[in-house]
Amino acid sequence: MAEYREVPIYDIPLRLQGKDDKVHKRPKPHIDAATYKSNYQASITKVDEFWGKLGRETIDWDVPFKTVRHGDFEKGDVAWFPEGQLNASYNCVDRWAYKCPDKTAIIWEADEPGQGKEITYKELLSEVSQVANALLDMGIRKGDAVIVYLPMIPEAAIALLACARIGAVHSVVFAGFSADSLRDRTVDCDARVVITTDEGKRGGRTIATKSIVDAALKECPKVEHCLVVKRTGSNVEWQEGRDKWWHEAAAAQRPYCPPVPVSSEDPLFILYTSGSTGKPKGVVHTTAGYLLGTALTVKHIFDVHEDDRFACMADVGWITGHSYIVYGPLMNGITTLIFESTPVYPTASRYWEVVARHKITQFYTAPTSIRLLRRLGEEHVQGHDLSSLRIIGTVGEPINPEAWDWYNENVGKKECAVVDTYWQTETGAHMIAPFPGATKTKPGAATVPFWGVELALLDPTSGQVLEGNEVEGVLAVKQPWPSMARTIKGDHQRFLDVYMKPYPGYYFTGDGAARDKDGYIWIKGRVDDVCNVSGHRIGTAEIESALIQHPGVSESAVVGVPDEVTGQSICAYVALKPSFSYDSEDALVKELVLQVRRNIGPFAAPKMILIVNDLPKTRSGKIMRRILRKIASNEADQLGDLSSLADPSVVEKLKGDWLKKA
Ligand code: WTA
Repeated sequence: MAEYREVPIYDIPLRLQGKDDKVHKRPKPHIDAATYKSNYQASITKVDEFWGKLGRETIDWDVPFKTVRHGDFEKGDVAWFPEGQLNASYNCVDRWAYKCPDKTAIIWEADEPGQGKEITYKELLSEVSQVANALLDMGIRKGDAVIVYLPMIPEAAIALLACARIGAVHSVVFAGFSADSLRDRTVDCDARVVITTDEGKRGGRTIATKSIVDAALKECPKVEHCLVVKRTGSNVEWQEGRDKWWHEAAAAQRPYCPPVPVSSEDPLFILYTSGSTGKPKGVVHTTAGYLLGTALTVKHIFDVHEDDRFACMADVGWITGHSYIVYGPLMNGITTLIFESTPVYPTASRYWEVVARHKITQFYTAPTSIRLLRRLGEEHVQGHDLSSLRIIGTVGEPINPEAWDWYNENVGKKECAVVDTYWQTETGAHMIAPFPGATKTKPGAATVPFWGVELALLDPTSGQVLEGNEVEGVLAVKQPWPSMARTIKGDHQRFLDVYMKPYPGYYFTGDGAARDKDGYIWIKGRVDDVCNVSGHRIGTAEIESALIQHPGVSESAVVGVPDEVTGQSICAYVALKPSFSYDSEDALVKELVLQVRRNIGPFAAPKMILIVNDLPKTRSGKIMRRILRKIASNEADQLGDLSSLADPSVVEKLKGDWLKKA
């Protein structure tokens, strides 16, 4: 982890100073330092007044709210704007379709450079309406769940908005998940409709989405329909009655569908995410608070203005795609980009070609991509006109100061605001991030809390609040904020146990953090068994339960180890059943990797698997992951206190095995 005391502090950069600039007409930022401060104070001390005003200004209501905030963490009954009624699709689409019908809502940059298309707000309203009507035709009504298993095509955004239009609850499953994972999520949320494509395209490769869906649906008896977008036109298996082409289903419908008003607290979507134990949890976000949080963070952390063209390179299958490709940008009526490809296809200049081609004003990606591109060399950035950019952001994992500096110098040309945004699936929107016109930045620091986010650093053992600066502890939040998740689908007790119980009175993030001498927050990473590989969040327990399904495996322990490019990589220690015999270790390791790919998805595959005799355990039988982490990080000389080990010889043996393999 970066040494946070040594970095410089940067003032508001040139392109954010709101200076008269005839060529670029760069706008004056919405928020300056004084406004940030006074708003922040008001946001946590005058909750009704502050949030009531923003709620009324930001959202168009069908029925106005009376109460601003209700409930608390401990009971888990948090509700924002409870009497209000609204429609998310209306707020994201119709408002702008009437005000600026010909403005581009979505730019689609397809896998092959220069291919793709633009969709105006007027067209978006028609397409969303047709798909909403098609869903109604399939019997989907308010409160029903719809699974979306789509790659990065405009239909992904259209599908979400179509669900929202009729009050249906979407649950997007990242198209890198396997059939097994897709099946589990489809069953867990009782979906009757799944939306997918014939195939996906990414980095020149083809992904067999429909056949993955077909495999998953074999064990999803409740699914009645599969709506299939034609992306490549390849021949795919077809189940008459169940499968329907998206374009045919949509074309049969009227291009207007009245938006269905829902309660502020009706669920907008479910998104599954990994925790430190058990199966992935279906995090539930409700409508008004989530829309408000995403709208305001897009407006203020990315300082968007009317003509901005916003590019978030995440996948719509993760929360970043939900909040910063679809809902946040469209709530502001700006133009959002959907990117189908990768940072290195066909060359490592792809991102910068996209920025130049579409005159992107805000660019948002994960530190892992920055580290990869930095390694490939700045020559790939040079020669592309990046002067349209004002704000460049990162999300998903801590950004090391070297990567931050590279991004600032080569992409931002030291004239853009660099915003490191800290948040989670559960928080819905940014929690800690600089305000471009207001916050001085430090490479590697997430900096300051967003409005309404009252942070606390707690002593991990005693739960005592750590006051003042230059302290380090676990990161918690002291009062409910609008875009927080409300529950876990089907398991409210788990929601309380995971987030509210560890430190009573607080929401617990699962991350460690430090506050430096200037009061800036530095995120130190997870303090639980959740890994972060290339910004993808994976629970070690999930990988362990995938491995154990292999007939030869008796026990496994999975740890995340530091990786220069991907942040962390996955290392699995596997103990075999004594009765299990095999010919070659290489072949067995391949089988085990395949097992994880099949069970979860390719992105969760361990980078390293070590076959071992025994795992180090305490006398009460608990696996000591700390030791495994140290060994896999080549820090076997810093194992610390080993006195609780049941059998110290296991560790000596492991160290030897590791050296042989590594
Ligand atoms: C980590 C992604 C440091 C953190 C939006 C968190 C970060 C987890 C940052 C959530 C950041 C996210 N700096 N760490 N700027 N952003 N994280 O749910 O550990 O996929 O708890 O949401 O990613 O991952 P999730």
